[in-house]
Amino acid sequence: MKNVLNDFARHGSLGDEYINEILGKGRQMIAKLIKNDPKNITFTSNTSQGILIALLNIPFKEGDEVLVMEECFPAAKYVAEYNLPGINTRYVKLKMKDPVEVAKKEIKDKTKAVILDYVQYFTGERLPIKELSRFLRERDIFLIIDGIQALGSIYLDVKKEDIDILACGGSKWLNGPQGTGFLYVSPWAFGKMKKVHTGWLGAPWKNFQNFTNLPQPFNDARRFETGTRNIVGISGLTESIEILFEYGIKNVEEKIQKLNTLIFRGLMDKGYEILTPKNRMAGIVTGRPKRGLAEKVYKKITDKNIVISLRNNALRFSPHFYNSVDEIEKVIEII
Ligand SMILES: Cc1ncc(COP(=O)(O)O)c(C=O)c1O
Repeated sequence: MKNVLNDFARHGSLGDEYINEILGKGRQMIAKLIKNDPKNITFTSNTSQGILIALLNIPFKEGDEVLVMEECFPAAKYVAEYNLPGINTRYVKLKMKDPVEVAKKEIKDKTKAVILDYVQYFTGERLPIKELSRFLRERDIFLIIDGIQALGSIYLDVKKEDIDILACGGSKWLNGPQGTGFLYVSPWAFGKMKKVHTGWLGAPWKNFQNFTNLPQPFNDARRFETGTRNIVGISGLTESIEILFEYGIKNVEEKIQKLNTLIFRGLMDKGYEILTPKNRMAGIVTGRPKRGLAEKVYKKITDKNIVISLRNNALRFSPHFYNSVDEIEKVIEII
């Protein structure tokens, strides 16, 4: 990011080739992360924008509905509630349930889309989504997945998981800068979408010297990019993902699981109620003291310059691959 800013300061203009290299590398790195094609990726500013683009492109008719996971982070809720006039938003509980069983019960003729958090922001529960994805696709219902609490902490192959739409911000487990993110749209989903949210950079320009002939927009997810992109941010996100690759994504997942198993055990030994289901654990472990306030312990931990989160009178831990067993032992000792 510093290099891009320095080049910009030095030269004033970065030039098409320079910019295209950053965009190309960024798209490639994200594609490698989810084991897919760069063509199926569009850059966004955050998770919410990805969810918004997906929802705007669903061919809803007046009176249709979108189902939203009740326990999800507010991002999806706001986008669904306030941007779809004439479309009903209905909330369904998915916590510790079989998503296909929930879908069988809740899906109606009017249901055209479902939105959920792959990994729930509070308990860290990782939902099994493969069967749900298939179940919904067979009924032409779009499943929009918020992946920000998952990607960067787990290995993910979107095709193997049958994921068609995945929105993700860059600034959590991917360690990227704020104001970056991406949306993945499979060719199946793209084919059925409305193709709105298209701007002049949603088309394949050869150069910017002649604007007389307007190229047709891309026929894939790149079409959803509207105008000039956040080159500094994208370069930072790309480098951050590359660091994950240097360590190895499977190694990242293994290391996080190892650290989280220690936290899990440590919290249990201290008599905490564990809110994270062990068999559905990703990067987050959350525990609540059976007596007293979590805030007191939170203060003790953060006073020692250890970063964790306080949520709903519970302590939320989210160690990454760069944390060590020693650090986890230290935090358990403080508790
Ligand atoms: C599951 C989930 N989705 C979305 C967000 C944030 O959304 P956005 O990237 O749009 O700011 C968060 C947390 O910040 C989150 O935990």
